[in-house]
Amino acid sequence: MLLEKIEGLLKEVSNLSAQKAEDVEQLRLKYLSKKGEINALMADFRQVPKDQKKEIGMKINELKQLAMEKINSLREEVAEEAVSSDDMDLTRTPYPIALGTRHPLTIVRNQIIDIFSRMGFTLFQGPEVDDDKHVFTMLNFAADHPARDMQDTFFIEQSDPGDVTKNVLLRSHTSGDEAHFMENHQPPFRILCPGRVYRNEAISARAHCFFHQVEGLYVDKGVSFTDLKQVLLTFAREMFGPDTKIRLRPSYFPFTEPSAEMDISCNICGGKGCGFCKHTGWVEILGCGMVDPHDLEACGIDSSVYTGYAFGMGVERITNLKYRVDDLRMFSENDKRFLEEFKSAY
Ligand code: DAH
Repeated sequence: MLLEKIEGLLKEVSNLSAQKAEDVEQLRLKYLSKKGEINALMADFRQVPKDQKKEIGMKINELKQLAMEKINSLREEVAEEAVSSDDMDLTRTPYPIALGTRHPLTIVRNQIIDIFSRMGFTLFQGPEVDDDKHVFTMLNFAADHPARDMQDTFFIEQSDPGDVTKNVLLRSHTSGDEAHFMENHQPPFRILCPGRVYRNEAISARAHCFFHQVEGLYVDKGVSFTDLKQVLLTFAREMFGPDTKIRLRPSYFPFTEPSAEMDISCNICGGKGCGFCKHTGWVEILGCGMVDPHDLEACGIDSSVYTGYAFGMGVERITNLKYRVDDLRMFSENDKRFLEEFKSAY
């Protein structure tokens, strides 16, 4: 009887299985604890006749040994399973794959670069921490020119208040890159300078203390305003669609003569007039003009031989027109819900 019972338990124990650590613990309690099945056999064992004690005793030991080994190996099994199946299934397809998206300003900047690259412009980037000399003086701003205040420049160091050329500042426009490039190169050249600029403005939906511009400059023999117009028309149509019209309004910048501001036909109403374009049918997108001979000479370029044009546009402005982002603060708040809306090949 007892022998049969032990044989039965041996079979049972060798077939044990478990899914979780709790199951293993249940089995340990069932077979190996003080009140467990194997200990219970000891009570029966006392009744066993002497001549069978050896045989049955060995069987009980065998059972105990097997139960211990089995439960230990089950414990290892479920521990391995917990790691491989729950936490680290290496066979599983890793989706949804959270691909990052480019910032809308990067997308638009890259688009601008792409369009002008196809027209022969190469990239040049000057410093963000610059000096008065390159940002203003070489660009024909007089020492007392109000533009320095007008643009609300952040000055970092004014080592010699009497000499504006010594002042260190955060550049307030990318036009300074024109001076940086021209003082080290002779024409012909055609450059595009994207970058961040800073102005001491209170942050609001319509103004920010930093934003982005792209500057363009082309200097060669015989460059005319007609060239400028055609390049800007091509840009506007590539950027905003083939039906886009442009118009140039006379304006003033110290570093260009003549100067103009360029409008495009409102890309929301198609030029008919709407709230966005204040019912004019036009929206302004950039400033431009013929490089003032003063700037060429200040950089050692012979203005009797060479002429050039320049233009500068705000990346936020173009992005606003393209994607209708009305509040400038959105660009620097890093709200993932906003950023994830922009998917692009650029
Ligand atoms: N630098 C001007 C600004 O920040 C924009 C600009 C106007 C750039 C005319 C130019 C230009 O190159 O020719 O408002």
